[in-house]
Amino acid sequence: MEKFEAILVERKGNIAFIIINRPDQRNALSKQVLEEITATLEEFKHDERIGCIVFTGRGENSFAAGADISQLKTRTPLDVFKPGSMQEVYSYIEAYDKPTIAMVNGYALGGGCELAMACDIRIASEHAKFGLPELNLAIIPSAGGTQRLARLVGKGKAIELILTGKMLSASEAQHIGLISETVPAAKLKEKVLEVAEQILAKGPLAVKMAKLAIHLGFDADMKTGLTVERLAQAVLFATEDKNEGTSAFLEKRKPQFTAN
Ligand code: COA
Repeated sequence: MEKFEAILVERKGNIAFIIINRPDQRNALSKQVLEEITATLEEFKHDERIGCIVFTGRGENSFAAGADISQLKTRTPLDVFKPGSMQEVYSYIEAYDKPTIAMVNGYALGGGCELAMACDIRIASEHAKFGLPELNLAIIPSAGGTQRLARLVGKGKAIELILTGKMLSASEAQHIGLISETVPAAKLKEKVLEVAEQILAKGPLAVKMAKLAIHLGFDADMKTGLTVERLAQAVLFATEDKNEGTSAFLEKRKPQFTAN
């Protein structure tokens, strides 16, 4: 893998960590960060050894404090439509083939909060803080924030949080369903690895299909969602892994999945 500057990439078995590496700027998300994340995900897409991606920020106090405001200052209207926008990168992450976890180790503000929301699972340390403060800058969250926050926590709460720019503690964020779990900082990585290992033990094709059915179905009407679910199951019923999973259960042994 080529060397990056704005992110660090670490691997632990089948789990890859993408670490935003701008601690002096509270891991603000520059264009370079987004480009390096995209390049890394492109590469991991073809790497069968990687089964789960974890996003986090370097240092103790920030996951990502939003878009880089000095770059934001020079943006023009047409920049919004250029390829590689933050919204485009996050849509790519949301639809990514492999499961993703946001390991929120501190401030997750603006684009940082939106990055966490684009991941499949969000686990935070107790001191993490969440918020969408864009309106303070006279702009709106536009990397999916207005849409994903409402889908995660409900329209009323999303409007309140975006209009006030209020910062939530991790326990408040958990209470409204924005994140799954809050743990002491010292236990954060351990907890994330535990969850990642739980997912890695599942049939990998089933993990892909579950993601697909939930994402597609959530934005569609119930009938369409149920049809997608059935079709996804039909595909899985034809796999060797389904045979292995059911046989292993009946033979009281651990399954050996091959993604076939
Ligand atoms: N973009 C660019 N630089 C940022 C940044 C951002 N989103 N967030 C923080 N920084 C920079 C600061 O300008 C400062 O740089 P300096 O050392 O050259 O002065 C450095 O990171 C440290 O930030 P500071 O504000 O001093 O840290 P803090 O610990 O007191 O506060 C935050 C942390 C995250 C609460 C605060 O930095 C903040 O509110 N950041 C902006 C959040 C935001 O509005 N995000 C949405 C953007 S659309």
